[in-house]
Amino acid sequence: MDPKRILLIVGGGIAAYKSLELIRRIKKAGMDVRVVLTRAAQEFVTPLSAAALSGDKVYTDLFDLTDETEMGHIALSRQADLVVVAPATADLMAKAAQGLVNDLASTVLLATDKPVLMAPAMNVRMWHHAATQRNLAQLKADGVHFVGPEEGDMACGEFGLGRLAEPGDIFAAIENHLPKSGALNGRKVVITAGPTFEPLDPVRGLTNRSSGRQGYAIAERLAREGADVVLVSGPVSLDTPSGVRRVNVETALAMFDAVHAELPADVFIGVAAVADWRPREAAREKQKKTAEPEMTVTFVKNPDILEAVSKHLDLRPRVVIGFAAETGSLEDYARAKLASKGCDAIIANNVAEGVFGSAHNHATLLDLDGFTPIPGDTKMDVADFLAAYIQKKLS
Ligand code: CTP
Repeated sequence: MDPKRILLIVGGGIAAYKSLELIRRIKKAGMDVRVVLTRAAQEFVTPLSAAALSGDKVYTDLFDLTDETEMGHIALSRQADLVVVAPATADLMAKAAQGLVNDLASTVLLATDKPVLMAPAMNVRMWHHAATQRNLAQLKADGVHFVGPEEGDMACGEFGLGRLAEPGDIFAAIENHLPKSGALNGRKVVITAGPTFEPLDPVRGLTNRSSGRQGYAIAERLAREGADVVLVSGPVSLDTPSGVRRVNVETALAMFDAVHAELPADVFIGVAAVADWRPREAAREKQKKTAEPEMTVTFVKNPDILEAVSKHLDLRPRVVIGFAAETGSLEDYARAKLASKGCDAIIANNVAEGVFGSAHNHATLLDLDGFTPIPGDTKMDVADFLAAYIQKKLS
């Protein structure tokens, strides 16, 4: 596979020094990076240091004036898989939002037909200024992606939003936004994972022992296959897999809304251990213990997300898959769930075998063709099997 190519535009500002670390990370990941330095950026970063780290010629306005025959700005902007602007100054954002062209960086941004990712950095007041916020909204509407800015102390002595995102976070965003090229390229997959948390009061609630590992393994595997994966996750202590967009939720109701907001999709996989019930009321204040030896909580039924997606009249994904975690009568329950929830397949596993929280899973898939044992015994084996199954179903 050819290495991915990043065109990095470095804007002028004190944060520009972090672009050197970003170049190093991109190279370390085996990608190619070509660097454009604006005139102002060269006050903070020398073309020589950027060239040494990128291992390539660095492009500046000077190049634009004298070297056009060697590589035009059109070619420069088209040969990349992703254009990254870090730091994106207020000036660069304003020019890009207006389509103004008066230097190499703004010319590249107007000429490119590739996705653009911006990492803004500026003084907090400049960031909050109505003009910058207007430009931000316009750029988002134009399809530009953003990472940061972050909140913190600024070089100018003020505190607030406006700091450049850390190079590691910018790099993670780069991986997220690089166009994919796999068997599921262009397919959108929505996955639920982890437990839900149903509050009783501000500090207590009802949850379960799901670790989220199975759903995260599937998300990681399908993203590697090129799918556009959205992971709607309950509270877990796992890192977001590379290339996956994660939406954090706590309650079943929030998970239901987040999933529906992501439709239409090609595939839905319900892996989350959604609480079937929630306390009818969550107290606003922390509940104090009383002298009573017992207490009664009334629970009300949560909506079934898998069933709602399976039976959606307008936006049913082509493939809908559920999980059945059981401690006995696995096959009977799996058959009943396939029928009642209206999904295309159920992955049934026996959670009496210490599956929760571990990397292991021993499962079987049930669809209209009957039961198929899933080879292997890890959660990634289940993810591998599902990746192949989904490809077959969508072909
Ligand atoms: N599920 C869901 N929304 C719910 C409950 C379950 O989307 N409110 C999904 C789970 O993500 C899983 C499947 O339904 O894919 C099966 O969940 P499970 O809890 O095993 O089944 P239940 O229908 O809740 O039945 P029971 O608790 O009686 O086993």
